[in-house]
Amino acid sequence: MRRAAFLAAGGALTTTALSAAALRPLTARAAGAETLDVTLTSAPLLFAPFPGVSYRGLAFNGTIPGPVLRVRQGQRLRVRYVNRSGGPSTVHWHGMILPNAMDGVADVTQAPVPDGAEFLYEFTPAPAGTRWYHSHVFPQALAGLFGMIVVEDPHDEPADQDIALVFHDVPVPASIDSAMKGTSTAPMVDPFGSPELAAMAPDGKMGDEVAYQAHCINGACYPKTQPIEVRVGQRIRLRILNANATQTRYVRLAGHTLRVTHSDGNPLPQPVEVEALRVGVAERYDAWFEVSKPGAWLLQGLSEAPTAFQQALVLHTPGMENATPLGVAQTLVGVRYFTYELAGAAQAVGTQPRAQPAGVRQAYVLGGGAWGSDRWTMNGKVWPHTEKIVVRRGDRVEVRFTNKTDMHHPMHLHGHVFDVVETNGRALRYPLPKDTALVDPNGGTMTWRFRADSPPGRWLLHCHNDIHMMDGLRTEVDYQ
Ligand code: C2O
Ligand code: CU
Repeated sequence: MRRAAFLAAGGALTTTALSAAALRPLTARAAGAETLDVTLTSAPLLFAPFPGVSYRGLAFNGTIPGPVLRVRQGQRLRVRYVNRSGGPSTVHWHGMILPNAMDGVADVTQAPVPDGAEFLYEFTPAPAGTRWYHSHVFPQALAGLFGMIVVEDPHDEPADQDIALVFHDVPVPASIDSAMKGTSTAPMVDPFGSPELAAMAPDGKMGDEVAYQAHCINGACYPKTQPIEVRVGQRIRLRILNANATQTRYVRLAGHTLRVTHSDGNPLPQPVEVEALRVGVAERYDAWFEVSKPGAWLLQGLSEAPTAFQQALVLHTPGMENATPLGVAQTLVGVRYFTYELAGAAQAVGTQPRAQPAGVRQAYVLGGGAWGSDRWTMNGKVWPHTEKIVVRRGDRVEVRFTNKTDMHHPMHLHGHVFDVVETNGRALRYPLPKDTALVDPNGGTMTWRFRADSPPGRWLLHCHNDIHMMDGLRTEVDYQ
């Protein structure tokens, strides 16, 4: 069924036209515009971001990624969703706290929108920050149905340029099916050159990896990515989203450090200066830099797929568009990159976060994922048999994960911002406000805390690796 839906996405194809207009944000800055009205139409698209790659994907409004939506804090958003995708579909507003009926989860918060039908999403986007939207019907997000939404906070420090960067990749369709069965032979190599992973690649032991045939930023592959002109003295804010459905990205800007101010759109307790970002599936980071001299530099995304493939885009000062950009090495060994431990000022191993007053507690052991298996489990069970977290409005909730598998799991909670208070046995001095967080493999642990003060309903809690979610790693937080 879930695979059939993907194949059904064939249908009428249009050809992609890559242009700056594709990423022109849809805004409503006109005076008195209290509501931003947008129509999002999903439809098949023949996506050709690189010579030799032509992929039958799905697009919102004719582009992959879909348009960047920008709203002011407090403004209302009304999205008329027209589904021409060829199958049932929804739009999920990732990172938003909104009425449950607007959350866009097929068969949980709404009936999926049939092909040819429409649905009206209407809410006041909050909290402020860099968030995103995507189909919540597998595998439509893998196929291209995603985009960024920015809720502008008038109190934010001003930037001379505010740039949305969506990192995404083009899957090899057949590999999705084998990844679901756990028999994929797509290689997996990380940029640290870790011997374990290097050894696994040739015999295909990572049976859950999707193979990707092209690596893009904002709909194009280097060197066709749109260069960004910056000027000396400018302070630039990058809003980075990893929209890849299965893989972490490491992002670097040659010749610069990045000042990270927000994780998943939420202000960090204190900004952190790094040489690279680690961006798990579905995570967002706001990273700033100042242009101190003329030049041309590569902004790069290092993948955990073979490092021969990487995303890149040129930033340059006026007159430097034809200069050879300064690049960085294809390794992260010895590089200071963003981790939760660093940003949260982790304390010594074995420290525990201060106990919180009694509330709801749930522990999950993440398991499964053996070679040839199509099961990823929470306490040994797969959705819909996983243990749910039942809360009353106002409850304090603590969720603890222990990851017994050999892959990272980007765990995501709908409709809430949680605090990461512990990771790998170290309490964080500064809890990190997030909606998606990577739980490290091979025994890694993580503890979240949040207040159950969102609108009542059923809020999904799942791994944002689409393969893992479809293979069972999914539960929910239900308000009584
Ligand atoms: Cu980004 Cu369940 O979603
Ligand atoms: Cu996972």
